[in-house]
Amino acid sequence: MRALGIETSCDETAVAIVRREADGHAVIEAETVLSQIDDHAPFGGVVPEIAARAHIDHLDELIIATLADAGLKPDDLDYVAATAGPGLVGGVLVGLVTARAMASAVRVPFLAVNHLEGHALSPRLGEDLPFPYLLFLVSGGHTQILCVHGVGRYERWGTTLDDALGEAFDKTAKLLELGFPGGPAVERMAKAGDPDRFALPVPMKGKPGCDFSLAGLKTALRLAAEREAPLDDQTVADLCASFQRAVGEIIEDRLSAALAKFSDIYARPPVLVAAGGVAANSHLRAILARLVNERQGRLVIPPPHHCTDNAAMIAWAALEREAAGEERFEPKARPRWPLDSAAKPKLGSGKKGARA
Ligand code: KG4
Ligand code: ZN
Repeated sequence: MRALGIETSCDETAVAIVRREADGHAVIEAETVLSQIDDHAPFGGVVPEIAARAHIDHLDELIIATLADAGLKPDDLDYVAATAGPGLVGGVLVGLVTARAMASAVRVPFLAVNHLEGHALSPRLGEDLPFPYLLFLVSGGHTQILCVHGVGRYERWGTTLDDALGEAFDKTAKLLELGFPGGPAVERMAKAGDPDRFALPVPMKGKPGCDFSLAGLKTALRLAAEREAPLDDQTVADLCASFQRAVGEIIEDRLSAALAKFSDIYARPPVLVAAGGVAANSHLRAILARLVNERQGRLVIPPPHHCTDNAAMIAWAALEREAAGEERFEPKARPRWPLDSAAKPKLGSGKKGARA
């Protein structure tokens, strides 16, 4: 079975064609990603209106290029899939409407995909990874610990009560005038800094459960920067190093709880998958590796282009759902769409529904 997947929920326009073999293995026949970072950089963050327009401008040509790359015609497809949420609704609508039109023209089923399910199943694109496993999803929009019991069976063990981790990196970079996206810039500066110079708080440390909070750290960092102003290069580097160290301690504390819970439930060493842009940070990766090694477990970090937003994970999630006989999702754009419907919303439970 072969699906063409479309991803337009944030600032990447992506198209991929993925085949699922009879034995369950994935073959990526072609994939294309167009990043909009340069369009958003002058504004210090993703601007939803600019993102939606850029998706409209590029999606058609990307679909044509991806089919050509795979040497396929639209008639060779069995499904067309697209992210239906959660995400920026203007962009989601562009992908959804395009995919539905294409599916009806080719006369194949359209499959709506939850973006988070795409991330949750993405490590199985390239690895032989049986269920269950823990997913630590850390991007600009999400900070979640999910227990992936199987296709369609996700349990949220932890989420952020305020900012996402990537967002905290981006806000730190903005405060210190390091540009957008902030994560790589903060990591680069931290290499030259002293992580002990500023004693920053580690919110939620020792608290039961696996939830995150970044607001207190963000405020403490801002106050420290204001105290030191005007900032010289060394102080900026020290602030970055101290911030990154505090984030590392937060991750160590929260993940330790999740890894212990996994081993308690399944009576075996933990399997941890880390995905999302923040998983590119080498300081944080080293902490994850140590935590998993201490417990004789297995750490899987998909290659960078499958850690961040991509369409192969959307096509793959659609194929996995179909193969597992899971019900099809309603093809409706959903700005908010938690994967674990039983989990109580921690924030943003207004009339638009629970945030992820
Ligand atoms: O998964 P992603 O590419 O896009 C979404 O947010 O969906 O993640 C982007 C986020 C940004 O907040 C960026 O600052 C952060 O990941 N990031 C990093 C690093 N590289 C990217 N954060 C910390 N260290 C990095 N090296
Ligand atoms: Zn994502």
